Amino acid sequence: MGSSSLLRAAVLAVALLLLADSGEAFFDLFSIFRPRSDSDYFPFDGSPEQAKRKPKIEQEEDGAAPATATGLTKVPLLGAPSKAALDTIVLPVDDSAGHAGSWTIVSENSGVSAMHLAVMRHGKAIMFDTSTTGRSLMRLPMNNCRADPRAKREGTMDCWAHAVEFDYSTGALRSLKTATDTWCSSGAFDADGNLIQTGGYFEGDKAVRRLDACDTCDWREYPNSFAEGRWYATQQVLPDGRFIVFGGRRAFSYEFVPQPGMTNGQSIKFPLLRETTDDVENNLYPFVNLLPDGNLFVFANDRSVVFDHRTGKVVRELPKLAGGGRNHPASAMSAMLPLDLRNLTRGADPEPEVIVCGGALKTAFRLGENNTYQPTLRDCARINLGKIDAVWAVEAMPVGRVMGDLLVLPTGDLLMLNGAAKGSSGWGFARQPILSPILYSPRHPEGSRFRPLAASTVARMYHSTSAVLPDATVLVAGGNTNAAYNFSGVDFPTEVRVERFAPPYLSRELTGNRAVIDVASVPAGGMRYGTKFTFRFHTPVAAVEWGDVRVTMYAPPFTTHGYSMNQRLLVLPVAGFSAQGQMYELTVDTPRKPELAPPGYYLVYVVSKDVPSEAAWVKIQ
Ligand SMILES: *[C@@H]1O[C@H](CO)[C@@H](O)[C@H](O)[C@H]1NC(C)=O
Ligand SMILES: *[C@@H]1O[C@H](CO)[C@@H](O)[C@H](O)[C@H]1NC(C)=O
Ligand SMILES: *[C@@H]1O[C@H](CO)[C@@H](O)[C@H](O)[C@H]1NC(C)=O
Repeated sequence: MGSSSLLRAAVLAVALLLLADSGEAFFDLFSIFRPRSDSDYFPFDGSPEQAKRKPKIEQEEDGAAPATATGLTKVPLLGAPSKAALDTIVLPVDDSAGHAGSWTIVSENSGVSAMHLAVMRHGKAIMFDTSTTGRSLMRLPMNNCRADPRAKREGTMDCWAHAVEFDYSTGALRSLKTATDTWCSSGAFDADGNLIQTGGYFEGDKAVRRLDACDTCDWREYPNSFAEGRWYATQQVLPDGRFIVFGGRRAFSYEFVPQPGMTNGQSIKFPLLRETTDDVENNLYPFVNLLPDGNLFVFANDRSVVFDHRTGKVVRELPKLAGGGRNHPASAMSAMLPLDLRNLTRGADPEPEVIVCGGALKTAFRLGENNTYQPTLRDCARINLGKIDAVWAVEAMPVGRVMGDLLVLPTGDLLMLNGAAKGSSGWGFARQPILSPILYSPRHPEGSRFRPLAASTVARMYHSTSAVLPDATVLVAGGNTNAAYNFSGVDFPTEVRVERFAPPYLSRELTGNRAVIDVASVPAGGMRYGTKFTFRFHTPVAAVEWGDVRVTMYAPPFTTHGYSMNQRLLVLPVAGFSAQGQMYELTVDTPRKPELAPPGYYLVYVVSKDVPSEAAWVKIQ
């Protein structure tokens, strides 16, 4: 679709919406996403009086699942799709470049809608939502309900699961129990591949939670860990394995995640967050990246700094990124481009580049309150922080997008998916879900970097997620633009289907190139910094040469609200290559230091002729 026909479609859609939706009801369960004046801007300040005015949601239900049953309940029947639900964006596929990818539904019902998603090293995805929206589609076992601290009657149990472990190979589910509210929380993996998960809402806003990587593990929670509530904060792993958490609603500060059971006395001010708060914020879930020199890049709304967490000093401010807001609820997509460790002069760091694409006009959320959905931002901006006079280089995407996900694929290309062409984040504040993912190739010349791929059939806007899997496919889940699990009488029913997207590199014509890592050859002790790492692989059909092969390692992120925290991909130098028929031995130089790759479990892929293998989980320490 050309830009002019897109524009026409947009104008037509606005006209239709104005006709059809002038009487549309709003979800009024909370006013938190509908700030009007300073006094009710942050409606909940933690006082007991305010807490009593909690939303009336039916969550105090008994009827837990028998301890032996999964507790999954049926997806209610959906009503006929509304006019708004049919107004989706599908871009013409560019198939001159071959196969455009394919979609499959791997589960019709994940029980819990995946507002937050992370893939763990024991081969499972963890998905969770919030206890604030009430019932999910999965009951907790009878002997394991959660006490609801917000219920009117003390001792009321909430027997709905708000977290599940999802087996992405089989669709099997295991309910997990979250005692405190994980709404709009944050997370990262520790050096042993355990999920350290922080913040949330109400009784959960100062919590640190830990979920170990195992088939019987469940959450351990430490509700009084932070000095300030962290609701919509970003958590980043540091080179020494600690975590830093930035921001959250009305938290213009950062803290280091304390050890389990410890409480932080106070947080540390971070003025950028106060300075970039619009009347509707537009700076929540700041984009944070660990740079190769150990500093942090922090982006909030339209400004960004390089921050030295060791000294507590901002060492550099980058130029403003004009054009609108880029963080929640004006949610843009952002990632650090792959760090290429090949061909560096000895001891030199790669130049880190950060990309920020899409987002919304600063007024989008406010206008959403009046059922007016503005076109989202089309620009996609990139900055090379290795340059002293770094500037944003801006290109136009085929379509504007808010609340999209941006995943770094094992090949080093990026995948944009989910989100909407109009409106902003927030319940019911977006229209025109974009069903087409776009492949972004950062190494292609300007003007040829965006390629629309095969479209999904499932609208995924607010509270949707995605994740790169070890087999190089992409898990796509979640989507709930409602203040409760709601399947009828709404434009966009709560989404519990889980899809898998196979990018073009997995097309049948290419699988002859697909390397198969000999898992038994992967050193059991993992990688050490600044050494060699040797393993074997084979290819099914086509022979490969040294020059055909790349090795990449991917840090599995924690994804929520269109941002994948701690996502990073490194391209490793191949230091040795030998062939015996179609069996190959490969030696790579490992990253020199934890600033390049913080300690933990990575997905190591062999990419041969641009086709990634299945990954091996490898620990670096
Ligand atoms: C690295 O250097 C080699 C030899 O100069 C060259 O053939 C190769 O293309 C370079 N690779 C990259 C990724 O720049
Ligand atoms: C929304 O509509 C109300 C009532 O018509 C109006 O007073 C207000 O200015 C509008 N807000 C915006 C942001 O347009
Ligand atoms: C679902 O949304 C509709 C429309 O806003 C509302 O009437 C209904 O009460 C909601 N149902 C639930 C379970 O919240």
